[in-house]
Amino acid sequence: MGSMNTYTLENGVKIPVLGFGTWQTPAGQTAKDAVKAALDAGFTHIDTAEMYGNEASIGEAIKESGVARDELFITSKLDNQAHSYDLATAALEKSLADLQTDHLDLFLIHWPNPKAFRDENWEEHLQDTWRALEDAYKAGKVRAIGVSNFKPKHFEVLAQTQTVKPMVNQIRICPGDLDQETIAYCQANNILLEAYSPFGTGKIFTDKTLNALAETLDQSVAQICLRWSLQHGFLPLPKSVHPDRIKSNTEVFDFELTESEMQQIDDLTGIAGYATDPDTADF
Ligand SMILES: NC(=O)c1ccc[n+]([C@@H]2O[C@H](COP(=O)([O-])OP(=O)(O)OC[C@H]3O[C@@H](n4cnc5c(N)ncnc54)[C@H](OP(=O)(O)O)[C@@H]3O)[C@@H](O)[C@H]2O)c1
Repeated sequence: MGSMNTYTLENGVKIPVLGFGTWQTPAGQTAKDAVKAALDAGFTHIDTAEMYGNEASIGEAIKESGVARDELFITSKLDNQAHSYDLATAALEKSLADLQTDHLDLFLIHWPNPKAFRDENWEEHLQDTWRALEDAYKAGKVRAIGVSNFKPKHFEVLAQTQTVKPMVNQIRICPGDLDQETIAYCQANNILLEAYSPFGTGKIFTDKTLNALAETLDQSVAQICLRWSLQHGFLPLPKSVHPDRIKSNTEVFDFELTESEMQQIDDLTGIAGYATDPDTADF
């Protein structure tokens, strides 16, 4: 799969260490152009979700690019409106059709406790939903399964009934926003941490410390953020719709942050705000 380094998931599946983000990338020409620019720049890992509304455009872009399916790692995530066994099973089929593929490389439960199912049985809804992902995994429709926005207590709910452990947790991680408890839990349980919003959804670029480091190292603030994430062993998912930025976001393998530079970034707090609480989110 391409030339990018990989992490290895618990089941042996290899996953490129950098993925291309597509949240808020409008469906249609914008999404198609962004994905093609990403493939040209060397991204082989694309992160989308049913709720982003752009899977069909991404599917078209991939098809038109001519890149072989087995050169790519494609992730999607379950719609918050589909937290039951049957709804989740059907939702995955729709993603496969929209992305024009017979399998996903990774399918995630997007949020553990969506508003539409936040009742006294939310734990059961979550367990039923996970069972749908397990069955899809066992049927070979997805090469790996995981979750997103999970805290340790949500993993404990799955653990009561799971037959397959989540292999990935995709959470918000950027300078100033590290959920240490969840990070430690995932690391202890061999659950790969994907870092979403590695630039705090664009809120990070004015930070003084990061700008000073960028200047010293002759890299962009974006590159500093991605390098920091990688050196922590996270899998960052930068989003852009601009080809020049997309390209530069892949150029993060030819420099290194020292221990003290890592520490300076670790010491930042709240510079781009904090993750949404999955148990009170309004969606
Ligand atoms: N699982 C979840 O619940 C969840 C939640 C949020 C995000 N995610 C995933 O993580 C991905 C990334 O997170 P995100 O979309 O929140 O934002 P992000 O990647 O942290 O930041 C994206 C913003 O930074 C800008 N940008 C990108 N590269 C840049 C560069 N080199 N220089 C200057 N500006 C740059 C982009 O602008 P332009 O696009 O205009 O270039 C955009 O405004 C998402 O797309 C999605 O795939 C998942």
